[in-house]
Amino acid sequence: MTNIVSYEERIKSFNWEIAEQELNYQTGQVINIGWYCSDRICHLGKADKPGLIWEGSSGIEKRYTYNDIRLKSNTIAQFLQDLGIRPEERVCLFMDKIPELYIGFLGILKTGAIAQPLFSAFGDESLFIRLDNARTTAIITQKKHAPKVRKILGKMPYLKHLILVDAEPGKPLGEREVALNMDEAENVEHFQCFPTKAESPSVLHYTSGTTGQPKGVKHVHYSLISQYLTSKWVLDLREEDIYWCTADPGWVTGTSYGIIGAFSNGVTQCVLDAGFSAESWYRFIEKHRISMWYSAPTAIRSLMKAGEEVIRKYDLSSLRHLASVGEPLNSEAVIWSERVFGRPFLDTYWQTETGSIMISNYPGMKIKPGSMGKPFPGITATVIHPETYQPYDEPGRIGLIALKPGWPSMMRAYWNNEETYRKKFRNGWYLPGDRSSIDSEGYFWFVGRDDDVINTGGHLVSPFEVESALLEHPAVAESAVVSKPDFVNMEVVKAFVTLKPGFFPSSDLDLDIMNFVRKKLSPLAMPQEIEFIDNLPKTRSGKIMRRILHAKEWGEEIGDTSTLEND
Ligand code: WT7
Repeated sequence: MTNIVSYEERIKSFNWEIAEQELNYQTGQVINIGWYCSDRICHLGKADKPGLIWEGSSGIEKRYTYNDIRLKSNTIAQFLQDLGIRPEERVCLFMDKIPELYIGFLGILKTGAIAQPLFSAFGDESLFIRLDNARTTAIITQKKHAPKVRKILGKMPYLKHLILVDAEPGKPLGEREVALNMDEAENVEHFQCFPTKAESPSVLHYTSGTTGQPKGVKHVHYSLISQYLTSKWVLDLREEDIYWCTADPGWVTGTSYGIIGAFSNGVTQCVLDAGFSAESWYRFIEKHRISMWYSAPTAIRSLMKAGEEVIRKYDLSSLRHLASVGEPLNSEAVIWSERVFGRPFLDTYWQTETGSIMISNYPGMKIKPGSMGKPFPGITATVIHPETYQPYDEPGRIGLIALKPGWPSMMRAYWNNEETYRKKFRNGWYLPGDRSSIDSEGYFWFVGRDDDVINTGGHLVSPFEVESALLEHPAVAESAVVSKPDFVNMEVVKAFVTLKPGFFPSSDLDLDIMNFVRKKLSPLAMPQEIEFIDNLPKTRSGKIMRRILHAKEWGEEIGDTSTLEND
């Protein structure tokens, strides 16, 4: 069955009530994402339908029907409740893409607690900053990641429970540690979901900004309305689809579309918990007969790089619909995918704060390769002047993307950071912090970010966080972090560093500093290049001018340097 009604038809008479009615939700009533993504699908008669097909790096496969997902999320919810976890407490998920992550997410939501997913490659410092900000009560993790938590446990008296999903039976557990083996635990047949309402908090995702520490983006259970409908209309999820969202639920795509959108639509989704290679990805598509594939430009460019020979070795004819998110999708990638897969990747634009797709190449709409497409029905989007905050009258002008607040999945707050939250709104518009233009047919063309945040392979990295980590290295006196161009990742992190007296540039020191950042923060934040210099460019007031270093890396005009100290 097709979901496709033309974009023009959809926008004519759009109302979010369409989703509310499909989900049988009435204003003021209970709405719990955990229940909608499992129990409800069973009530619809799909208890025995596979909901999650998981494959690990060793090739081992696990399958969960919707009834399994219901029972196991009940089990996790009951376990958390028995531990004393209360509604609205933060429970962190710190795991690889294993089934416990997907099902645990629903379990947390069933208790009314807030799910706080964090990317499992985070080092102890990245982890600490986010757990400390959220005053997280419990963390669910794997043996392999537990040492990073134990290292910072002493600094976190509020973190009462470290829950291990793969503890070895009989082996003594450490301080505050408990074991929960999801597959072996006795199923809990009935769990009374906490009666969350539309505005009850659901998910807390952390995202990086230019200055200051990462911000906790607070979402609510009502976000389901947007995530359900955009999954159905933009990702075009259908009853018979086998869906693969390649994103990690440590980031918002992996929860909004890798969990909530997929399960609330009752489709079968596949997860590959293994490192990237073109060969293994194509094999995965062939093996599971993937029909809908939601991925990211960096992955697509890596596939382009791997060439077409390898594509011919696999039967990819199951692919019906492809979409992309996270960074600019170059027109070459769109044209290439249409040629080699017979389907173009359709670009979608949104961010952690928006919770769901804002602008997209809607199925059936004319595609302009390189454009992000048009606003989702019900979303008012435009481009405004960066100083007057007024929309432009004529097409083609570059300005700030502006969205009219009010869609269901919009963030409700930055955790404990009201001031930064308020700054995201101007003149009645929400500003995502990106620049774009709109052409005469209403298509959006992404230009760039409006801040210094680095988007490397679809992941946002704050130069401030990397600079702070660098300063903790014994050899580093000062540092400035910018992006530099890269074919696959679009941008990678580059650090300019001045050394303390007694330290001298060497390739050993170079590696040592890189590793230091990787361990503390994450592999994503690790500078791919370190340039040792004698002095950093600064303003007269002593502020480091990243802009100059950035321009140099990108071969751009340096612009006004009149306030420069040592020019
Ligand atoms: C930022 C949001 C929600 C997806 C995962 C990233 C950039 C996102 C596109 C696109 C160009 C894009 C923007 C945005 N971005 N999609 N289609 N074209 N840029 O979520 O970590 O919150 O990052 O990613 O700069 O603001 P995020």
